[in-house]
Amino acid sequence: MSGGVYGGDEVGAVVFDVGSYSTRVGYAGEDSPKGDISTSIGVISEPDEAMEIDNKKPAKRYHFDPQHMYPISNKEIVNPLKDGMIEDWDLFENLLNHIYKEHIRDDSSAHPVLMSEASWNTKAKRAKITELLFEKYDIPAFFLCKNAVLAAYAHGRSTGVIIDSGATQTSAVPVHDGYVLQRGIVRTPIAGNVLTSQCLDLVQEWGIDIVPSYMIKSKKQVEEEVPADFSLRDLPPLTDSYKTYMKSELIRDFQKNCLQVSDSPFVQSELENVPGFHYEFPNGYNRQVGIERFRISEGLFDTTHIKNIKGFESTTLLGAPHVINTCIGMCDIDIRPALYNSIVVVGGNTLINGFVERLNRELLQKTPSNMRLKLVSNNQSSERRFSSWIGGSILGSLGSFQQMWVSKQEYEESGAKVVEKKCP
Ligand SMILES: Nc1ncnc2c1ncn2[C@@H]1O[C@H](COP(=O)(O)OP(=O)(O)OP(=O)(O)O)[C@@H](O)[C@H]1O
Ligand SMILES: [Mg+2]
Repeated sequence: MSGGVYGGDEVGAVVFDVGSYSTRVGYAGEDSPKGDISTSIGVISEPDEAMEIDNKKPAKRYHFDPQHMYPISNKEIVNPLKDGMIEDWDLFENLLNHIYKEHIRDDSSAHPVLMSEASWNTKAKRAKITELLFEKYDIPAFFLCKNAVLAAYAHGRSTGVIIDSGATQTSAVPVHDGYVLQRGIVRTPIAGNVLTSQCLDLVQEWGIDIVPSYMIKSKKQVEEEVPADFSLRDLPPLTDSYKTYMKSELIRDFQKNCLQVSDSPFVQSELENVPGFHYEFPNGYNRQVGIERFRISEGLFDTTHIKNIKGFESTTLLGAPHVINTCIGMCDIDIRPALYNSIVVVGGNTLINGFVERLNRELLQKTPSNMRLKLVSNNQSSERRFSSWIGGSILGSLGSFQQMWVSKQEYEESGAKVVEKKCP
């Protein structure tokens, strides 16, 4: 190694794409991540007797279970991310430990790390992750890259608007020649989690109990809309956060299966005769889901359809087409044609049936006549959810990228601020 440049491209880099719902991890050069791990972590506090005397905090045990299907007493479900950025570093470190042990299954010092970050990540957090990985994990080299840029690379582009609708937010990020144009980023919290809470309200309005699988001992088949016939398992004492998480998981399944975006703006009378969609809950209760599946999805386009939404500033509640148009409108007029011509759609929430088609239609209506609109999206659901990871996998395995790494030597010479210099 000379001049601090990392020259160890003989071993595969590890690529991390950290999302609020799940964290994707695997080796650069591979087609798909080795692991798609829940970013929500189980924490079990074990108070010991010496605690009160020594003023010690209770010992914590961390529990990583893909769907948290096994009910364990006193297990809280917590998440280290907030607003798409790492907030609880202790928790995040435990997630990394778990990933190295169970998914990478190799010493962290053996592999460079390419990690994605939210396009609005702060300088302080960028420095902190750099320090954590070099100091605690002793990695040989590091690169931090905006997830929107990686998603663009996954689609063979270095310029475009990346519209990403995940769990906690829908964002439009303009990328030009591989750089994020910070002034054009537009975000709204109207995304997967908001739809989950809308679906939860709907199911509660129907007056049915939400009974996740872990609670069910046995069930019998029942006719449509007939009360479920099931028995409950004996369970240990469970925390509220665990029960809430498991209910949300159930509702997420409902959401994935039932929601449908209508072709044109929601008009009740036009959709009333569309056949319902049959859905069976884990306890056996089953029914047709009618017009509601269009009404709830409509919230992504027209936020007046979102009911009882609390905790968000009303000015941040924006429909997806508005998010994109505002984003492009804030970018330099010279690059707007290139942006309209490359709108890359990614994120799990965009997988709702009909989303891309409707987005295309709405954007066409607002696109200036001298611009050519082109939406780019992958038809495969995993590729749409894993776009940033896939982009990282491509970038990390390019020969020409190997000189871009922040090497351990550079970190030792310049400190964590080196990440600002080398990772745009
Ligand atoms: N097939 C599907 N149909 C509809 N929604 C889906 C589908 N698959 C996943 N989702 C929803 O997408 C969201 C997760 O998306 P994604 O994995 O892109 O989020 P994330 O990157 O972890 O979170 P964020 O981007 O908020 O940090 C969840 O709300 C989930 O319910
Ligand atoms: Mg995401």
